Formats: sequence, C-alpha cells, structure tokens
Amino acid sequence: MEGYKSFLYFLVSSLVLGFTLVIFVLVWVLHYSDGLAWDGGNAEFNWHPVLIITGFIFIEGIAIIVYRLPWTWRCSKLLMKCIHAGLHLTAAILVVVALVAVFDYHNAKNIPNMYSLHSWVGLTVVICFFLQLVFSIIVYLLPCTPLSIRAAFMPIHVYSGLLLFGGVIATSLMGITEKLIFSLRNPAYSSLPPHAVFVNTLGLLIAVFGGLIVWITTRPGWKRPPEEQRPFLSNDNYDNTTEYSKEKSDVELNSEARKRNLKLDEAGQRSTM
Ligand code: HEM
Ligand code: HEM
Repeated sequence: MEGYKSFLYFLVSSLVLGFTLVIFVLVWVLHYSDGLAWDGGNAEFNWHPVLIITGFIFIEGIAIIVYRLPWTWRCSKLLMKCIHAGLHLTAAILVVVALVAVFDYHNAKNIPNMYSLHSWVGLTVVICFFLQLVFSIIVYLLPCTPLSIRAAFMPIHVYSGLLLFGGVIATSLMGITEKLIFSLRNPAYSSLPPHAVFVNTLGLLIAVFGGLIVWITTRPGWKRPPEEQRPFLSNDNYDNTTEYSKEKSDVELNSEARKRNLKLDEAGQRSTM
C-alpha cells in the first residue's frame, strides 16, 4: 500500500475519534441530561442522539472504510461485501430505533411531528439510505445482476454513499444545536455553560470524524487493489511464481481484457467468481 504509515495514522485517529464520540454522547445523556429509559420522557428522547451517533455515524463510518483495510485484501471480495453490507444493515436498525424513540417522545408530549428543517433533512437522508441499501444488495449481492449494471452503478454508489454520510453529519449538527437551544434555559445556551461547551465539542468532533472518513475513502492509493494486481494476496496463494508471471504477461498482452477486468473489479464483481 502507498503511504501505509499515513493510512495507519488516519485509521487510528478515526477509530479513537469514533469511540470518543460514543463516550461523549453517553456522558451527555447520562451526566448532563436525564439518562436513558423508554418512558415517553426526556430519557426516551435521549436514545435518539445515542443511537444515531453510535449507528449512523460511528458504525456507518467504519462500514464505508472497511474495504480500505489492507489486512482484509487477502479476504475474498464476497466476504468483504457481506461485512460492508452487514455493518450498513446494523446502522440501519439502530437508526430505526432512534427514530421510533423521537416520534414516540413527541407523541407522548403532544409535540408536533416533522416541523423542523432537521426532521425534514433527517427523514430524507434515512429514506435515501434505505433505498441505497436495498438497491446495493440487489446490484452487488444477487448473482443474477448483469456485470455491466454493476460497473455502471459503482461511481454512483460511492458518490451517493459519501453524500449520504455528509447528510448524516449535517443533520446531526442541526439536531445537536436544536436540542441545546430547547433544553438549556437556566443557565441559557447563550451564557455558554459547561454543558453547552461539552456538547458543542461533540459536534466539532463529529465533523472531524466525517472529514477523516471521507479523506480515507477518497485516497486512490489506499483503494483495495484490483484482483489481478494482487494474486499473491489472494486466499488461493499463488505459490507457483511461473504461473503468476504467465498470467501477468497474458494480461499485459491483452490490454482490452485488462481494461475490462479492472472495470469488473471496480464493480465488485470478480470476487464472486
Ligand atoms: C442523521 C441523524 C439524525 C436523523 C436522521 C434525525 C431525524 C429526526 C427526525 C425525523 C425527527 C422528527 C421527529 C418528529 O417529528 O417526531 C427528529 C427530531 C429531533 N432530533 Fe433528530 N435526527 C438525527 C440526529 C439527531 C441528533 C444527533 C440530535 C441531537 C440531540 C437530534 C435531535 C433532535 C431533536 C431535538 C428533535 C426534536 C425536534 C425536531 O423535530 O426537530 N437529532 N430527528
Ligand atoms: C446504504 C448503504 C451503503 C453505503 C452508504 C455504501 C457506501 C459505499 C462507499 C462510500 C464505498 C466506497 C468505498 C471505497 O472506495 O473504499 C462503497 C463501496 C462499495 N460498496 Fe457500498 N455502500 C452501501 C451498501 C452496500 C451494499 C449493501 C453492498 C452490497 C454488497 C455494497 C457494495 C459495495 C462494493 C462492491 C463496493 C466497492 C468496493 C471496492 O472498491 O473495492 N455497498 N460503498
């Protein structure tokens, strides 16, 4: 891998930051707010930020960078696809519970639903996330999907995945601001009590975490190499170097085939072969 040291630096920073986000949101609800419960009150609302930050930010961030981990390049692409999809699915389940918590809380307190920009953007992001999840399972996991469709949709898949992740970060920052404005009365948010400093810091850390994940995902040198560039890494382990050289030269001789292979690999398809 190109720039392995700097990759490690970014990876460790994002992992440390990810865990810090989860600890921060727990300290927020357990220490500064009313804890966690399922009783229609503030403690029920608190599941909303806890599950969103754990699922939709931390787990989702890991799901996005999982293909970039060089230690996984020995694993089959199919296995990696299942891990990638499984992590997104876990995030999706936590998000559904987070939404149930906030709607239930609003209904119990007779607070109107879906009036804020936060809720509009948030619900749009969640719906698009589910569409992306279902569509990606059909395109990249069902063996009957034509390879040309897999290849054609890969750039859209990566773009919309990163756009959705950006949407999650933006929605969360809006939600945090709203919550502080609503809940900090005495002392007021504008007097910047320690509670506000702590939660504002959480917001900043969320933005930095998002920046790290997007950085890792957009470095071309850290991308999982196409299969034919790493036969020695595959599980089948090419012990026979002659065979490897022969295959390599075959590929080099036929640049058309090589281009096609790269395209298929980009579509995440060759793994299933
Ligand atoms: C991507 C992440 C998030 C999504 C998709 C999301 C989604 C939503 C939705 C759909 C509602 C409306 C519920 C209703 O009308 O009954 C809502 C309400 C709310 N959320 Fe979030 N939320 C997210 C993150 C957060 C975070 C991190 C906080 C921080 C505390 C937060 C705070 C709030 C607050 C205070 C409300 C009630 C006021 C309102 O409806 O705007 N949200 N959220
Ligand atoms: C809503 C859920 C999803 C989001 C947000 C998402 C997002 C992403 C992102 C950002 C990448 C680029 C990663 C990189 O360049 O290293 C990616 C790659 C990929 N995703 Fe997803 N994804 C989702 C669900 C799925 C599902 C369910 C599958 C089905 C297996 C899938 C299959 C793939 C494949 C095959 C790649 C290419 C990996 C490579 O370049 O080696 N994704 N996804």
